Amino acid sequence: MKTKIAGIGHYVPENIVTNDDLTQFMDTTDEWIRERTGIEERRYATKHKESTTSLGAKAAKIAIDRAGIKPEEVDFIIFATLSPDYYFPGCGVLLQRELGITKSEAAALDIRNQCSGFVYGLSIADQFIKSGMYKNILLVGAEMHSMGLDFSDEGRAVTVIFGDGAGAVVLQPTDKEDQGILTTCLHSDGTHAEELAMINPGSHGGYHLGVEKFGYPDPSTPGGVFVTQKMVDDNMLSPNMTGQLVFKTAVVKFPEVIKEALDKTGLTTEDIDIFVPHQANLRISQFVQRTLKLPDEKVVNNIQKYGNTTAASIPIAMSEAWEQGRIKEGNLVCLAAFGSGFTWGSALIRW
Ligand code: COA
Repeated sequence: MKTKIAGIGHYVPENIVTNDDLTQFMDTTDEWIRERTGIEERRYATKHKESTTSLGAKAAKIAIDRAGIKPEEVDFIIFATLSPDYYFPGCGVLLQRELGITKSEAAALDIRNQCSGFVYGLSIADQFIKSGMYKNILLVGAEMHSMGLDFSDEGRAVTVIFGDGAGAVVLQPTDKEDQGILTTCLHSDGTHAEELAMINPGSHGGYHLGVEKFGYPDPSTPGGVFVTQKMVDDNMLSPNMTGQLVFKTAVVKFPEVIKEALDKTGLTTEDIDIFVPHQANLRISQFVQRTLKLPDEKVVNNIQKYGNTTAASIPIAMSEAWEQGRIKEGNLVCLAAFGSGFTWGSALIRW
């Protein structure tokens, strides 16, 4: 028994924000952003009207429809995001409610694996399908970054990169020998956890970080350290990134984890029909493409239009490529991701 992708869909908000639009808020230029990241524009969801869950629900409805099932047939939801609607509960149950999945044995799981969230989710779903536990798993990657970014000059290196969007797949068992997920490879290394992170608000209370630096009250004071006035005053409630470390590590880990998947399955880079990298940065994807010696027609890049949508980037890119007829039955699809944690992973799927 293997796991096949039975339906796929994506949704991006209508509101297009160009690089020039961002120059109204911060000291940046279209040229700087394009040159360093390849990004030309991104989408921002509408505040008060959309959320990470609502974006995910729109993508999920398309995937469910294309799988030829009804929402109530979904028995397990996996929701990958780093920008959840609430600190808790997670988006999984909110999506369940939004889609009206009322089946008593249905369950929802949220995962926090940032840019690798979709590949991690795929691997989790694969194990549950292969074990026979579930028959229709809905895996969603969705992000509403625009709510949490710093639009001042201080935040510009991070803010220009990220965009909002969602992608989803429905996973089902298949007994066809030449179809389905062939392998998934997952890795993590917490050494650089804070180098690409949003650490506030949080329960760390200064641990790892230095109490003084974050202006925490006397440690003997009960409560009150999850979010402090100093965090608000000093603009500490947005993501930070050591860009060059991320870049240098990503261009090593991407090819490494792809080779691991190919070695495990006895395949080679020539066997890959289509490569869908996490859309981290066009320069990273181009570097990986050169390392793997893949021709342009085998690589999916859409970061130019959507920016980096973290857990949503692979399913959005895969869904678009499928809609454009670039992914066909029998194709070997290679997915790979790297990001915050650091976490990284790959998957090989026979479509
Ligand atoms: N617009 C204009 N200038 C900017 C800017 C922006 N949006 N962001 C940063 N700069 C400036 C910096 O302040 C710095 O100025 P200085 O030289 O006067 O100090 C200069 O540009 C270079 O900054 P630096 O951070 O060294 O740039 P870089 O060449 O490393 O490029 C990234 C920055 C983020 C584009 C690059 O490091 C990168 O792509 N990293 C990987 C990021 C990534 O893929 N993240 C997602 C992982 S999932």
